[in-house]
This record gives sequence, structure tokens and C-alpha cells, in this order.
Amino acid sequence: MSTKERLLSLFEENKGLYISGEEIAEKLSVSRTSVWKAVNRLRRDGYKIDAIQNKGYSLSINTDILSVQGIKKYLNSTCNNMKLNVLSKVKSTNTFLREKASNEEEYVVVANAQTEGRGRFGREFYSPSDTGIYMSLLLRPKGVDSNQAIKITTMAAVAACEAIEKVSDENPEIKWVNDVYIKGKKVCGILTEASLSIENGTLDYIILGIGINVYQPIDGFPKELENIAGSIFSKRQKDGKNRLCAEFLNFFMNYYKEIKKTDYTKKYREKSLVIGKEISILSLNEKKKAFAMDIDEDCYLIVRYEDGTIERLFSGEISIRLSKN
Ligand code: BTN
Repeated sequence: MSTKERLLSLFEENKGLYISGEEIAEKLSVSRTSVWKAVNRLRRDGYKIDAIQNKGYSLSINTDILSVQGIKKYLNSTCNNMKLNVLSKVKSTNTFLREKASNEEEYVVVANAQTEGRGRFGREFYSPSDTGIYMSLLLRPKGVDSNQAIKITTMAAVAACEAIEKVSDENPEIKWVNDVYIKGKKVCGILTEASLSIENGTLDYIILGIGINVYQPIDGFPKELENIAGSIFSKRQKDGKNRLCAEFLNFFMNYYKEIKKTDYTKKYREKSLVIGKEISILSLNEKKKAFAMDIDEDCYLIVRYEDGTIERLFSGEISIRLSKN
């Protein structure tokens, strides 16, 4: 680890507190000049570091930049041994991991911004700098076949709700299959991509991508998203992004480690925005009205069409929208 990275760990652990240059130099076993240089490097990266004569340096509690050090502060033991990387900007964290998949086992990458963020059905995912969490997990679930891949997505939606509930006063809800809403606006989207082994049809790996709008984008959402997208917080929080990111990983990994026996569907159903509502099911060239009867133990959506037929729907086939009547 570089001096800058070690200094960031020390600052994150003591956020808002002053540490003298001398103490830092001693803790990191470097010279005072190296400390000063590392402080300036962090400042160039956007960290607000206050300096007061005779008191030392302090990382401002208003600094909320995603970093390995900032996230690790809040990770629990379910995330032990996790390979974690944080990038300031990347095209897409899902694409980044796909390019790494042949050489990596399990790997989590988080970005402060994406230039080509991808959403479901080939849509773009708006990923401005500094206000969101853009994260992907490369996963190799053992003994899970492709039909069960939906579990990863639905598990992630539940984990996102639990993490949001833990760090805010909000009551997030899930719009089947995997969008998280707060007060009628989407705050989180999930894109799961799988690679199948051609030989036996089993899952080779899964890339779970999750995008969370933590704060309002600095210039607001683009016009086309204004009425659809929302954010979790209306003002900056202490460690808002790092803590939320870590809590998502804590909740998700807790389920994922026991993927075959874990029971998260009760929570998924409780958080559902859809059960008992009239909905429209959108496919490529048609829009069908239906009633959302239930979500079953596999998180499939059970719908009844206007002609009375009942169908069990799974992720990826459709997009779904709440209708007005
Ligand atoms: C959707 O709402 O349609 C899904 C959005 C998924 C966005 C996340 S952000 C991290 C990861 N990288 C991407 O390019 N997309 C996913």
C-alpha cells in the first residue's frame, strides 16, 4: 500500500478528528515531508483535509468519496477475504469485470462514476460522478443452475432495501423484478449478466451490477429521468456512500453465502410494490394488462390476464409498469 492509501485508512478511521503530522509520520513510519505530500495528493483527489497549526490534519466529515478504506470501515466478517477495488471512473463496472472474468475468482469493483453505464434491455444507466454508487460483483455460485440465477437478482434487491433501511429513515420498495423505489421514484437498478458453460449448461459466472442514486446529481437528473429517478438522501451524510455500499455487501453476502438454503423471499414479498395491483406487462411489441396476484417462493410473478388465464413470469422476459387503472 502506498503512503497515500495508508494515510487515507488512518484518516477514515479518525474522520473529523485532528491528528498531528508527527503522530501520522510515526504511525506510518515515514517522514513529515512524505505525510505532507500524501495529504496534498489526497486533496488533489477531492478529499477535504483541514489543517490547523499545533493540531494537525483532519479529514472533513463532509468528504464522501468511495474508497476501499472508506468501505472497509463498515464491512463485517461476511465480507472477509473479499477482493475489492474502487475506481474513480470507468466505462461500466459490469464490462470491467467481464473483461477480468477469465483471470479472477470472485471480485467486487465499485466506481464513483461510469461513462457508459448499462441498464436492462440495452438502456443506458445514468451514472454521474460523486453522487451514486456503481458496483459490480463477479460471483461463481457453486451448484447453482441457470434457472436459479434469478435468485441473485432478487437477493440483491432485498439486500439493497435492507441496506437503505439501515442507513436512512426511508422505506424502500421493490418493483418486480429488481428495481428499488422510494416514494414512487427509482433509486436503484440491478443488471445481472451470466455466462453459461456450453459443455454442461451450468453457470460459469454471474456479474451482478447495481447502481444506486445516493444523492441528487449535482446538475439534477436529465429531463427524461426527472419524473422517474430519485435519490436516497436529500442532503449529504457522513460516510453516506461508503457506508451504504458496505451495508449492501454485508446483507448481500450474508444471503449469498447460504444461497441454497437462504430464505429472503418473505422479505422480498413484504417489500413488493406490485402484489395486488393492476399492472401492464410490456414485451417487445405488445402491452398486456394483468393483475399481479402474488410472488412465489422462487420470486416468479404470478399474474392473471384480463381473459382469466394465469401465468408465472420470470426475470428477463418482460418489463413491468404499474398502470393507472
Ligand atoms: C437498470 O435499472 O436497468 C439496471 C441498472 C444497472 C446499473 C448498474 S451500475 C453498475 C453496473 N454497471 C453497469 O454498467 N450497470 C450496472
